[in-house]
Amino acid sequence: MKTELIHPVKSLCGPLEVPGDKSISHRYAMLAALANGTSELRNFAAAHDCHSTLGCMKALGAEVKVDGATVKITGRGLHGLKSSWRALDAENSGTTIRLLSGILSGQQFTTKITGDASLQKRPMKRVVAPLRQMGADIRAKDDNFPPLEIRGGKLHAIRYEMPMASAQVKSAVLLAGLYVDGITQVTEPAKTRDHTELALEEFGARLEKRGRTVAVHGMAGKNGRALLRPCALDVPGDLSSAVFFIAAASLLPESNLFLANVVLNPTRSAILDFFQQMGASLQVQNLQSKQGELIGDLSVKGAVLKGGLISGDFVPLLIDELPMLAALGPYTEQGIEIRDAQELRVKESDRIAALAENLKRMGAKVEERPDGLRVEGRSGGKLHGTEIDPRGDHRIAMAFAVAALGASGESKILDAACAGVSYPSFFSELRRLASGSNQ
Ligand code: S3P
Repeated sequence: MKTELIHPVKSLCGPLEVPGDKSISHRYAMLAALANGTSELRNFAAAHDCHSTLGCMKALGAEVKVDGATVKITGRGLHGLKSSWRALDAENSGTTIRLLSGILSGQQFTTKITGDASLQKRPMKRVVAPLRQMGADIRAKDDNFPPLEIRGGKLHAIRYEMPMASAQVKSAVLLAGLYVDGITQVTEPAKTRDHTELALEEFGARLEKRGRTVAVHGMAGKNGRALLRPCALDVPGDLSSAVFFIAAASLLPESNLFLANVVLNPTRSAILDFFQQMGASLQVQNLQSKQGELIGDLSVKGAVLKGGLISGDFVPLLIDELPMLAALGPYTEQGIEIRDAQELRVKESDRIAALAENLKRMGAKVEERPDGLRVEGRSGGKLHGTEIDPRGDHRIAMAFAVAALGASGESKILDAACAGVSYPSFFSELRRLASGSNQ
C-alpha cells in the first residue's frame, strides 16, 4: 500500500503526453482479437484495465504481443475464439467485463468471467438483461453481480431501448449484434461516448446512426463468411487522464501546460466546454480527425474558475471527470454542484461518498445527496492537507492529489498505486511538472 505525499506548489509547467485512451484501447483490443489477421495498436493505454482486457483476449486464444506502448494482436476471426480453461479475470475493469459479455454471448462455448472485490460489487444486470433478450444464457451472482457464467449460442437481433445512458451497455449489445443474422438496434436515453461505433466501422462492420439510435449489421449471415479486417491504429491520448492536469494547471495561477495529442471526440469533450464556461484559460490547437476520432493539442494556464452546475444529459458526457470537478469545487468562486449522477455510486467505488468524505477531511463544506453533491466554493474556507483514503479508486486518488496541490500543508494519498488502473505514471508526471515550483 504505497502512500504518496503531496505538497502545495505554485504552478505546473511543461509539455505532457498522456497515455493512450483507456476506452478506445479496450475496444481496439477486443475487435483486433475478432479480426482475421494481425492488428497493430500504437500508443495503447498503459492503464492496468486495458491490460486486463489483453489478458482476457489472450485466454480466449488471440495472440497478443506487447512491446512498450505497441500491441500486436493476431485475431482468430469472429468465430475463432476458444474457450478458456480458467475463469477470465477482468480485475478492476467494468468496461472489460461488460463489453466482453457481449462478445462471449455470441460464442459456441461457456465462459466464466469475474473480477476483483470492487468489480464483484458492480451491477451487471444492465448488460445481462439485453443479452438474455438476444438469446444468451447468463448466470450471475444474485442475478446481478460477477462472476458471470455466459453460455453463448445463436443470438437474434433486437431493438433495445436502453433504460439508462451507458456506453458500456450500448457497446455490449452492439458487439453481440455482430453475431446475429440481421440488424440490432440500440437507442440510448442520452448520448454517451461512441468509441465502439467508430471502432466497429474501422474494423469493417456496417453501422447506421441516427440521433440517439445506432444499428449494427450482424455478420452471422452469408454462411458466416463476413469478416472483420485487421487494422493499424494509433490510440490518441486519454482526455479523462489529461483532465487531472488541466484541473491542476487551472488551479495554480502561474501554470503553463501543453498537452499533445488528446482525444477530443465530442462525446468526451464536454468537460472542456465546462472548463471554458468556468473561465479556464484553455486553448485547443491542431484539431484533426484520425480513424474517426477527433484529436488535438491543449494549452492550459492558471485562471480564476467560476464553478457551476452539472446535471441532466450533460452527466454521461463527463461521468469520469466528475470526481476531479467535485474536488476542484473549493477552489472555485461559486462551488460545484452535481445532480442526476447516482451512477457515481456504482463506479470503482461509491464516488459520491468517497468525494464527500475526503473533501470534508480537507476542510471543505459539502452536502452529500443521493444523486450527487454540492461543494462550497472559496467562501467555504481554504483546504488543508490531510490523509486521503481513495477507497482503491484511481480517479479519487488522482482528484485528491490535485486538490492537495492547492491546499496548505502536506497530504498523504493512501494506496496511491490504485491510480495505475488508468494512469500508472500519474504521480511521476505530477512531480516532473511541479518541480521548480515553490513548495
Ligand atoms: C466507459 C463508459 C463509462 C465510463 C467508464 C468507461 C467505456 O461507463 O464511466 O469509465 O469505456 O465505455 P458507463 O457506460 O457505465 O457509464
